[in-house]
Amino acid sequence: MTRIPHATSGEPNPLHALTLDRLRCRTSTKWRTHPDDVLPMWVAEMDVPLAEAVVHALTEALALGDTGYPAGTGYAEALAGFAEKRWGWDGLAVQRTAIVPDVMLGVVEMLKLVTGAGDPVVVNSPVYPPFYQFAEHMDRQVIEAPLDADLRIDLDILDATFRQATAGGSRAAFLLCSPHNPTGTVHTAGELAAVAALADRHGVRVVADEIHAPLTAAGVDFVPYLTVPGGESGLSVMSASKAWNLAGLKAAVAVAGPEAAADLARLPEVVSHGPSHLGIIAHSAALRDGTAWLDALLTGLDDNRRLLADLLAEHLPAITYRPAEATYLAWLDCRALGLGDDPADVFLRRGRIALNSGIPFGTGGAGHVRLNLATSPELITEGVRRMAAALD
Ligand SMILES: Cc1ncc(COP(=O)(O)O)c(C=O)c1O
Repeated sequence: MTRIPHATSGEPNPLHALTLDRLRCRTSTKWRTHPDDVLPMWVAEMDVPLAEAVVHALTEALALGDTGYPAGTGYAEALAGFAEKRWGWDGLAVQRTAIVPDVMLGVVEMLKLVTGAGDPVVVNSPVYPPFYQFAEHMDRQVIEAPLDADLRIDLDILDATFRQATAGGSRAAFLLCSPHNPTGTVHTAGELAAVAALADRHGVRVVADEIHAPLTAAGVDFVPYLTVPGGESGLSVMSASKAWNLAGLKAAVAVAGPEAAADLARLPEVVSHGPSHLGIIAHSAALRDGTAWLDALLTGLDDNRRLLADLLAEHLPAITYRPAEATYLAWLDCRALGLGDDPADVFLRRGRIALNSGIPFGTGGAGHVRLNLATSPELITEGVRRMAAALD
């Protein structure tokens, strides 16, 4: 695989474009869950205008009344082109893909293909809370294999957890989060190959949620799970929704490795009725023509990570923050502040800033908060000011 470094783009930083007054006009969950005196820095929505390529594609579709049902493999083709350019992956075969309504419903469908009711699903806690909620809703039993102290996959623990998950002869799956939410950890090729070897040894099927992949920082290698040795039997769900802020325009793509093609072929046809045609148009345009915008965003996120680290060191030095290599999320260890298991509650009540509580992320989440960095430097500065004020 030849990796092509991210281009330096002449695009303006989209994180600088919107004022707080404009953002407060939004009607999405980030902006409507709390009253107006609260600064929302929680759910994974970005404070950016859409990439021009996406606006253009949607505007054309609206002008044409092209708002019917989706057809064809355009989204998968756009994703395959992006994967080849960005990650040097020339093996994303469109015939081994399927459109799914969104990433979490895609994950649910992939888990249904490889496990049955009551079967175990292994996750690396702390992890994106809907991993627990969706798996439990579909009657799977979640088993945690916590990350290690460096917030990386602990292969010994994963080995032991796979053994436990398959002990009764159950069909088990591992729901990999790559890159990892909330820590932003980018798994290395070596780690992923070790995961594949363990999965193979224990007969565990791997489903990879790779929604954050395009949000890997320049100079850092994102390795698609299906490309590592042993990853051929994996299933992945990918989407443009996180990196281009398109969560409200529902669509995602499920991809099967060569040895999982027969599994994906069993996906019921009705699943393809879920994604929105406008979502597919928007996601495809982003992947095809939105990379300069993405590069500008990634540069802005790097700046924001550095800014946050500096501000915390100055105003809240008891918080431990390791700037991540991917995602726009900052995972803050607040245990030394002595605020108990749920510091987000204290920051909200006393500082009027909404962060994600670490508790729903599972084991390893207590005493932590997740902060959303996809905003302007001014609002990050204001956010840290509010967090510090909560402690006065
Ligand atoms: C790891 C992960 N998976 C899935 C999702 C949700 O994706 P979708 O809205 O496409 O279901 C998110 C959203 O933040 C996420 O972080």
